[in-house]
Amino acid sequence: MTWRKITERGSIAPGKGRAFEVDGKKIAVFNQNGYHAMDDVCVHQDGSLAPGKLDGDIVECPLHFWHYNIRTGELTDYLKDVKLDTYPVEARDDGVYVDI
Ligand code: FES
Repeated sequence: MTWRKITERGSIAPGKGRAFEVDGKKIAVFNQNGYHAMDDVCVHQDGSLAPGKLDGDIVECPLHFWHYNIRTGELTDYLKDVKLDTYPVEARDDGVYVDI
């Protein structure tokens, strides 16, 4: 396990996501009923999912509106067996950490 501090607590607004680069990986971290992290590269045309609109656990890619579950990384429409990698996230006293 490799936990990395990615930001301060409170820097990701509730109901929003933010993009980070951790060890060369593009990661989207969402603050939606807890923190959730997954790869920030849409399989369609590499769009960033972090700024996407959230509806419950589903984020909409801002480019062409494909949808992913932020807890599981699964694409929920079009290609049914596609799944982005997800990562454990912890909100600690001194910041938000992701296990890459
Ligand atoms: S890049 Fe995400 S839907 Fe096209």
